[in-house]
Amino acid sequence: MMAHLPGLHLTVFLLLRSCGWLTWASTLEATKVNRDGSGAMPTDIPRVSLGVWGESCDSGKPQMSLVQSRVSRRKGLPKAPKPWDVRMYFVAEHHKSGSVLLAQVLRLIFRDLGSPQCCSTVPHMNVTNNSVPCDEYPNSTIQVHANPSPDTVQQVRATARRQNLDLRAVHAIRKPKDMLVSAYCFSMRGQEADDPAFANFPWVEFLSNGPAAGMLTLWNWEMHRQFSYMVDMYARMTPLETFTMRYEEVTKSTADFDENIQGLLRHFFDGLVSETVLQELADSAKLEDLHRHPEIGHEHPNDPDCMETAHAALLSLDPAILEQLKAWQAQLGYSIENWPEPVID
Ligand SMILES: *[C@@H]1O[C@H](CO)[C@@H](O)[C@H](O)[C@H]1NC(C)=O
Ligand SMILES: *[C@@H]1O[C@H](CO)[C@@H](O)[C@H](O)[C@H]1NC(C)=O
Ligand SMILES: *[C@@H]1O[C@H](CO)[C@@H](O)[C@H](O)[C@H]1NC(C)=O
Repeated sequence: MMAHLPGLHLTVFLLLRSCGWLTWASTLEATKVNRDGSGAMPTDIPRVSLGVWGESCDSGKPQMSLVQSRVSRRKGLPKAPKPWDVRMYFVAEHHKSGSVLLAQVLRLIFRDLGSPQCCSTVPHMNVTNNSVPCDEYPNSTIQVHANPSPDTVQQVRATARRQNLDLRAVHAIRKPKDMLVSAYCFSMRGQEADDPAFANFPWVEFLSNGPAAGMLTLWNWEMHRQFSYMVDMYARMTPLETFTMRYEEVTKSTADFDENIQGLLRHFFDGLVSETVLQELADSAKLEDLHRHPEIGHEHPNDPDCMETAHAALLSLDPAILEQLKAWQAQLGYSIENWPEPVID
């Protein structure tokens, strides 16, 4: 404790000098840096959050530190920037990786935060009701990307850097073999009938040839690219940048759902909104927990018979494809000890 106090005081002093006020969030950041033992000034002081933003702004409940309120009274309350003014949010998802669940959770969260503008590469995956296309608004600070390529990931990163924003991503991932099985049963029910992404999909061939051929069709159509992009992004992004939301974990139980959402919220907003607001956002998101609310069924649960039949048929695919699915599973940090373990839907 004693060791980092001098550094903290220095930081506080400098912040007061340069900004005229001090925040709870900056104090935390400064403490963290000094706990590393460096005692040095963090290089990104101008970028750390400049306010406890949230209900304190909207409903006047005091959330700020005594120092801040004293300084604020003297100087007039500065308008705290929103989280998306200091961070860039990058939402990455893949077909059948839990994308609908993630989008729904984020919709509730960003709605509570005031429906800021977001961009989305596929309109129906928007996370606020104020959504624009990402290719027209590449500087958007909340971006939703369906199956981002390695180039896209680099571009988003570069955009964040150019705007001097911290990049905070959430990546929805799932075991590739389960995604393939799930995509098969999902498509068998004609779920993509009016999805433009499926415009060139060979429906007749797909519907008439059974699960093994159907999964091969899906593989050739787009799924193999979904998997390789998913693995690439997983390998490329650092844990500081990305919160990885594993479908298998977030859907396991209510406790796992809550833990994942808490992790996501902290990754996105820690230091930028108060603990009270974080808790309120987590409470809102509970509406999307299928264990609490089986009736919402937003992941369009598949027919268990189809899942079972298709999973068995998976093993008759080309061994090279099976090896690739297994290798990807391992590269995504999943166990392959019991391969091919039962599918988790
Ligand atoms: C969009 O968000 C705003 C701000 O929260 C809200 O007032 C409005 O009702 C929302 N509209 C729809 C269609 O959800
Ligand atoms: C946002 O997504 C919802 C749900 O998919 C959709 O109904 C709505 O039309 C979308 N809004 C925009 C502006 O794209
Ligand atoms: C995005 O921001 C950069 C500078 O950060 C600017 O040069 C560029 O014109 C912006 N693009 C759009 C479409 O606004």
